[in-house]
Amino acid sequence: MKIAVIGGDGTGPEVTQEAIKVLDAVSKLEGFTYETTDFDFGGERYLKTGDILPDGAVDALKQHDAIYLGAVGHPDVPPGVLEKGLLLELRFQLDQYINLRPVKLYPGVETPLAGKTPEDIDFVVVRENTEDMYAGIGGFLKKGTADEVASQTAIYTRKGCERCLRWAFEFTQKRNNPKGKRLTLVAKTNVLTFGHDLWWRTYQEVAKDYPDVEADYNHVDACCMWMVKNPEYYDVIVTTNMFGDIITDLGAMIQGGMGVAAGGNINPDEGGTSMFEPMGGSAPKYTGQNVINPIAAISAMAMLLEQSGQPSAGGRVLRAVEHVTGTKMKSQAAGRMGHSTTEVGDLVVAALNEV
Ligand code: IPM
Ligand code: MN
Repeated sequence: MKIAVIGGDGTGPEVTQEAIKVLDAVSKLEGFTYETTDFDFGGERYLKTGDILPDGAVDALKQHDAIYLGAVGHPDVPPGVLEKGLLLELRFQLDQYINLRPVKLYPGVETPLAGKTPEDIDFVVVRENTEDMYAGIGGFLKKGTADEVASQTAIYTRKGCERCLRWAFEFTQKRNNPKGKRLTLVAKTNVLTFGHDLWWRTYQEVAKDYPDVEADYNHVDACCMWMVKNPEYYDVIVTTNMFGDIITDLGAMIQGGMGVAAGGNINPDEGGTSMFEPMGGSAPKYTGQNVINPIAAISAMAMLLEQSGQPSAGGRVLRAVEHVTGTKMKSQAAGRMGHSTTEVGDLVVAALNEV
């Protein structure tokens, strides 16, 4: 397996190192080989050279089976530059049309939802990742004047929603939840009567090919209520790009915060290159102190393995993570884990033999 590694900025390289440590150990136990290539993209490089993704970068990344990203973000780089120039650019250029965000409360991890347990909080959000308001369609009229008009257009294509919906149905089938296979489309059909009507009609059509999956629907505002009140209701959620961005951060909070949440930007097509990352960001104030939580980063590696042809290794890493959160860590907050960053990595490696 060929993995491109973008350690990135701040604590990105520290948590990436722990994820690679776990990859190395699990590859030996599961009997596969891998090689990594480092890429220095991120805020640090941008400040030095002025480029974000140099010529040929995307082609070089495409030569790999998957990309692992630690974190990008630098206090001296204005907001939006790296988000647009790196993260969104890669999603578009590599056509990573699925954004996958498991919302899973690991054992021993504190959730702000009173009385909810790991059994209650265990669902997955499948977010369309290339269209909607993220497509960058819009403009200004009379910019900077009192009469200024700004537009930002949400676009949805039949192809874009169909490929996402189909993938979500197949994912729900494979996940095979013993409580029943349920896919909930989350949208706003009562107000977005054009764009989300396209989603709704496509959903009903595609659903016919997956009769074993319950094709369910929630408006996005109601979904926010249920995620807090009855998270156990959900199995898989499929949603549009913008709504998906918002509800997945709500999801990250109920699963214990940014120290544990991981995600994938997936191009599931033959030869597609997908990218996996912890959601926490570069956390500049913790950089270099060996206190940041690597659990999200290690979980992102588990997802990479799961989605890149090593599901058994991915499952093993996930079980090891759950063993460590459940029995070895005091908290998921940076500096309060009861262990350093590298020690948590070592604990996961040790647990690989026990699970
Ligand atoms: C995410 C992030 C990105 C998004 C930002 C950093 C562009 O919030 O992956 O959810 O909005 O999609
Ligand atoms: Mn987000």
